[in-house]
Amino acid sequence: MKKKILDIIRKKNKSKIVSLTAYSKNVASILDNFCDIILVGDSLGSVLYNYKSTRKVSLKTMIEHSKSVRMGIKKSLMVVDMPHNTYRNPKEALKNAKKIILYTKCDAVKLEGGKKICKIINFLTKNNISVMGHLGLLPQTDKTFKFKGKKISERKNILRDAELLQSAGAFSIVLECVETSLSKMVTKKVNIPTIGIGASNNCDGQILVFDDLIGLNPINVRFVKKYLNIRKEMTKAVESFARDVRKNKFPLKKHSY
Ligand code: KIV
Repeated sequence: MKKKILDIIRKKNKSKIVSLTAYSKNVASILDNFCDIILVGDSLGSVLYNYKSTRKVSLKTMIEHSKSVRMGIKKSLMVVDMPHNTYRNPKEALKNAKKIILYTKCDAVKLEGGKKICKIINFLTKNNISVMGHLGLLPQTDKTFKFKGKKISERKNILRDAELLQSAGAFSIVLECVETSLSKMVTKKVNIPTIGIGASNNCDGQILVFDDLIGLNPINVRFVKKYLNIRKEMTKAVESFARDVRKNKFPLKKHSY
């Protein structure tokens, strides 16, 4: 296992793992100073492209955004989401994971699912591909988009799946929208770090979509804390620019050649 991956695993029970998504170089270069992990999430499908679900995101789109993100990262671990229908069987998963790594130089890939894909994850890790798992609400396949862990069957499956992912060689697991006591149980059960999004502070780390954190993506969901209202700041800047241009106050002499 790569040292960078081992460093993340060693953080379990020692220090919280900080993670955010990035879709481009400039954002990644800011996050890199503060994050342990930067994820190029397929959430870019809804956040940037207005797709109804992440299912429409293509491998090509993920690779292009990841190439940009790579240029902004010096130290953080870079993980790239494998899009829907790019890991339907072990052979397809390996071919596409290798492609992602070749073009983006990322450190690991992330796949959504538990029991159904643990053989695929096992095949990837046996072939030296570092894999981050993803349990709970799985945006690529979920139908209700409700938090998980209310039903006993859901709780049993998530606990079982976490152990299966660990056995398959995943180095960490994202827990998305998982009920508080269940995320505690999962985090205790596995030796690899859990990284929560809407899964309480019981997880070993936290991840948010950066555009949500800065208030650029206009959504209101319980698990997002908006640390900034960037839309307000951007609106002010664009308003000033438009006013200056209309009043012939921009460009001034100092902006001209
Ligand atoms: O696609 C994504 O951004 C993600 C995070 C929300 C974990 O999977």
